[in-house]
Amino acid sequence: VQKMTDLPLKGQRVLIREDLNVPIKHGRVSSDARLRAALATIQAAAEAGAKVLLMSHLGRPAEGESADEFSLAPVAAHLGELLGRPVKLVTDYLDRAPTMADGDVVLLENVRFNTGEKKDDEQLAKQYASLCDIFVMDAFGTAHRAQASTHGVARFAPKACAGPLLAQELDALEKALAHPARPMAAIVGGSKVSTKLDVLTALSDKCDQLIVGGGIANTFIAAAGYNVGKSLHEADLIGQAKALMEKVTIPLPTDVVVATEFSESADAVVKPVDQVADDEMILDIGPDTAAHLASLLKNAGTILWNGPVGVFEIDQFGKGTEVIAHAIAASSAFSIAGGGDTLAAIDKYAIEDRVSYISTGGGAFLEYVEGKQLPAVAALEAAAQRG
Ligand code: 3PG
Repeated sequence: VQKMTDLPLKGQRVLIREDLNVPIKHGRVSSDARLRAALATIQAAAEAGAKVLLMSHLGRPAEGESADEFSLAPVAAHLGELLGRPVKLVTDYLDRAPTMADGDVVLLENVRFNTGEKKDDEQLAKQYASLCDIFVMDAFGTAHRAQASTHGVARFAPKACAGPLLAQELDALEKALAHPARPMAAIVGGSKVSTKLDVLTALSDKCDQLIVGGGIANTFIAAAGYNVGKSLHEADLIGQAKALMEKVTIPLPTDVVVATEFSESADAVVKPVDQVADDEMILDIGPDTAAHLASLLKNAGTILWNGPVGVFEIDQFGKGTEVIAHAIAASSAFSIAGGGDTLAAIDKYAIEDRVSYISTGGGAFLEYVEGKQLPAVAALEAAAQRG
């Protein structure tokens, strides 16, 4: 695909799709990781003398709904602070193209306010395309969506290329998955096997150790024949779990942290995995397990991390995730992490600077790992072929 960095941008109207879908609390951006990740692209285009039109979605408004809670106004304000100059929010861009000088940066209001955005409507895609000379797809986090602002617009823009952030994300994922330094360890946590089955299956073909955590691990513990009491698990997926255990080494917990209730004030008790009582639930891996997994990670060449191994939001069930986080931070492996909960854990245990690459993608990260073609990337490939 073509890259933004290869094109002359001076005086060009450059429409950049970013994933500025960030959490907003009380009208302010509460976590700006995605905005900081997009900053280099925006600055590069502005410094090159482009007229920069940023576009993004925010949240999931209903079709045709344009409620204030989904407005990108707080994002424009925050981006302005990061860039050190105001970023104007433009709402009427489908009626008239904004008047801009070279080097200006504006943000177009939430694309999901536009009828047809999510359906990848051709008419809408053409309207977006008419706003620009060059379309830059830089929203890795939304690259798994075939929508008018991520996919359709690339078909009709005079030129369509990949932005630096998208290119960097794809390079990091390729390094981890296509040519991993061995041994490769993957950590897949989270609540349900069912939502991560494709990821687990894809990784079982690629990695040397597949470490499971959270509710996912409980299903594997049940598959190994242990009582999991009241723990979150999926009995109907035990067969699938067994099949995965035959394909790849899945180190199961030998000890676990249990409680009889799921609450901030619950008493956490460490137990061997074969002694979980009927009224208990497993909420974290135990210290022996954590130490063993940390030793595996120490020797890994590549580590891919998606999902916590316990209920880390509650401190007494967060030790396992904390040990894993620190092991990743201390490892000399190429480490890559993605997913909302994973980023929250990275933040909580302050290891941000010691992970080789932190993806801005949640769903997109998982789909890439699953081996799926990302529609927005496919659209850029098609654009490159058209020349
Ligand atoms: C995300 O947060 O994963 C992306 O911004 C995609 O959002 P969506 O799932 O609403 O399309």
